[in-house]
Amino acid sequence: PGVKPLIAGNWKMHGTLAEAAALAGAVRDGAGGLPADLLVCPTFLHVAQVAATLAGSAVAVGGQDCHPAAKGAHTGDVAAPMLKDAGAGFVILGHSERRTDHAETDAAVRAKAEAAAAAGLVPIVCVGETEAERLAGRAEAVVERQLAESLPDGFAGIIAYEPVWAIGTGRTPTEADIAAIHGTIRARLAARFGAAGQGMRILYGGSMKPGNAKAILALPNVDGGLVGGASLVAEDFLAIARAAA
Ligand code: G3H
Repeated sequence: PGVKPLIAGNWKMHGTLAEAAALAGAVRDGAGGLPADLLVCPTFLHVAQVAATLAGSAVAVGGQDCHPAAKGAHTGDVAAPMLKDAGAGFVILGHSERRTDHAETDAAVRAKAEAAAAAGLVPIVCVGETEAERLAGRAEAVVERQLAESLPDGFAGIIAYEPVWAIGTGRTPTEADIAAIHGTIRARLAARFGAAGQGMRILYGGSMKPGNAKAILALPNVDGGLVGGASLVAEDFLAIARAAA
């Protein structure tokens, strides 16, 4: 019940232009009649080509980051309006790899989310604890802080809960732990954003595969997935989307 699930593929820093186009084409060709909406997020260089491949299909395209400014002297950065112009409708923000590799703070993620919304992109804001934080019993507190500080007022986007220790490791939290933290996230969203928060999609990310997707996607307050490794194989990505039924 509730919102239609979203299965989002984060292609991270993988593939050639030709491989990205081929993968997008294979996703497009298998996208009919699925119980979930589909989104693919290639690297910046591939966004325009992937958007062209997916034009007229139901599969959406997103970026993996954007700069908080709409334009300016920021060598090597990409602005949200540029992503929009290239065909993107979504942008992943504050992924743990960005928070680690580029020292992105909650405040920076919040500014990026504002820029994304101003450009007409749907922000997907990532939160999630490290293994040390979970072992210290602080997972919920960390996620609550990230939500409070990374989301701008009036946020109208998507949350992705990704425990850092589950990304690319083949390990996932227990179903009970996923349900518990998604319940906490829902409560925080509802408290801050009211009815909009009740209807906001909360994705799970971290070693989601065809074999575990059905159980995870059936949990309360899990409204889809943010898929890394398995999104690079079209049939696995589509199998995860079918598991959202
Ligand atoms: O954004 C996607 C996540 O980081 C999950 O990656 O599915 O390879 O664990 P993974």
